[in-house]
Amino acid sequence: MKALILSGGKGTRLRPLTHTGAKQLVPVANKPILWYGIEGIVAAGITDIGIIISPETGEEVKSQTGDGSQFGAQITYILQEKPAGLAHAVKVAQSFLGSSPFIMYLGDNLIQSDLHLFVDIFKQQALDALILLRQVENPSAFGVAEVDPQGRVLRLIEKPKNPPSNLALVGIYLFSPAIHAAIACIHPSPRGELEITDAIQTLIDQGKQVEALQLEGWWLDTGKKDDLLEANRIILDTCLTPEVLGEVDPQSQISGRVQIGIGSKLINCRVRGPVIIGKNCYLEHCFIGPYSSIADGVTLVDADLDHSVILQGAKVIGVHQRIVDSVIGQRANLTVAPNRPKALRFMIGDDCQIELV
Ligand code: G1P
Repeated sequence: MKALILSGGKGTRLRPLTHTGAKQLVPVANKPILWYGIEGIVAAGITDIGIIISPETGEEVKSQTGDGSQFGAQITYILQEKPAGLAHAVKVAQSFLGSSPFIMYLGDNLIQSDLHLFVDIFKQQALDALILLRQVENPSAFGVAEVDPQGRVLRLIEKPKNPPSNLALVGIYLFSPAIHAAIACIHPSPRGELEITDAIQTLIDQGKQVEALQLEGWWLDTGKKDDLLEANRIILDTCLTPEVLGEVDPQSQISGRVQIGIGSKLINCRVRGPVIIGKNCYLEHCFIGPYSSIADGVTLVDADLDHSVILQGAKVIGVHQRIVDSVIGQRANLTVAPNRPKALRFMIGDDCQIELV
């Protein structure tokens, strides 16, 4: 069995972070989202992995993720010239996939369950497609399934205005090679994309073996800020190993599960876990509250934050109001003058959101 991870797309819902980088490389607990998918796939025993990349962000994905050896896998990068849909991505990957069954994984999805449960069911039942469903509050934002009382899938619709149920398609699918012929039968949707949802509907119409499982445990589609913060919270809650490699002065107080990377220095700080602080950070007179992730090379002086993600090389200096529920991009600089500031001076990138609440 092979795996196909989709790591292209424009990431419009995570702008401005995605103006300069791939959405799948945005970190959750200081690790790119994409890597959780790769690790989950390898843990399910699949090591031959194709990753779909886009011309805009492909090189960055490649250089950070490498040939797969760090994951015990072999990665083949496959260029999708334009974001023409998930089924189009499978078409582009046809020579990599050959006649192998495969798991298709959208690179910004994170789930709690082990993938090998699904791989086992798919293999044992010799299915043509196994899809995962999850109840959501806003089904119109997803592919939606209509199922009969036995849970069999009757119909799948992409982003319906009037959803027939609240069961969304999770971005993880298992396919036999029958999917290729189904994709050859479909046409672009109203949003101009070849939808994998339509290809699975074709399999159903052809009487192929399509099964759905309802996902238990959490599912996060990290394409938006609040989902990203939620993913960060859940991963810090469930996966963080406390370890202090950096220097912490005697005035600082560390409580709960906290990880501090090598080369980082904390002076007179209070850190209340779960918190992860990367390598080579400098923190002085700070309070860092639960569910915060601070990437490598960050400087925080006289700052107070909670439930936030600070990306690599950012600086926050002199902000005494608590920063909450925030994502601060790479190399961003947020400085408040030591005496009460008399003016606000900004250089704010496109699509930024600043809320003084
Ligand atoms: C895609 C699929 C959709 C699915 C979703 C899961 O949507 O088209 O059916 O429910 O992923 O993340 P997109 O992210 O392209 O809007």
